[in-house]
Amino acid sequence: MSNKMNIVGIGPGAREYLTLKALDVIENSDVLVGSKRSLDLFNNTNAEMVVLEPRDIPKTIKKAVSYLEEGFTVTVLSTGDPGFSGMLKTIKKLSPNTKVNVLPGISSIQLAAAKLEIPWDTANLLTIHGGKAPTEDLLDKLDNSRPNIILPNRHISELAEYLIDHGFSPEHGITICEKLSYPDEQIVHITLEEAKQMDFGYMCVVVI
Ligand SMILES: C[S@@+](CC[C@H](N)C(=O)[O-])C[C@H]1O[C@@H](n2cnc3c(N)ncnc32)[C@H](O)[C@@H]1O
Repeated sequence: MSNKMNIVGIGPGAREYLTLKALDVIENSDVLVGSKRSLDLFNNTNAEMVVLEPRDIPKTIKKAVSYLEEGFTVTVLSTGDPGFSGMLKTIKKLSPNTKVNVLPGISSIQLAAAKLEIPWDTANLLTIHGGKAPTEDLLDKLDNSRPNIILPNRHISELAEYLIDHGFSPEHGITICEKLSYPDEQIVHITLEEAKQMDFGYMCVVVI
């Protein structure tokens, strides 16, 4: 019988947000699987590194499972927390019979809430990450009575345009938290109209 696959949350990006437990499991792994950004944090370990490219996820998870079946200690790195728009859902879907050991990490959602001093038990947490464009059901999911903390899809300008087109005032505020925990972290409070005209990177949490 094979051992469990570790799915470890590595936090928002900077090393100081890693948990000691995550480090211990990672340092004792034979194989690390993760995005280039995740693996770069652990260049000093001797583990075999398997890069998880977005277009090759099923193939790479299959490879990780075969390492596990051969008896290696396999750890899949998930940025933030594996349970929020992370690798837990992906592995459960692609390899439902694989036994897993999930280690939580600090989600980008949590760090955004902390930076903005939002108690996140009062917030509406949403993800449209990975979606091509905002869809109609986003409107049903938004809750105007509390902060909506959202992992956006790639283009925040599209999200802003969509909200304006669906009845939000162009003057409605939006907060964009980009590259949280990195030296070039940026938090901006702007209007939807301004956000519509601007370009942000893919690593953002937004609050509406
Ligand atoms: C695949 S999802 C992973 C989310 C992750 N499981 C979490 O809990 O933060 C990747 C998205 O998370 C957000 N994200 C991850 N790290 C971030 C950071 N350091 N700053 C801002 N947003 C981040 C971005 O929206 C990015 O496109």
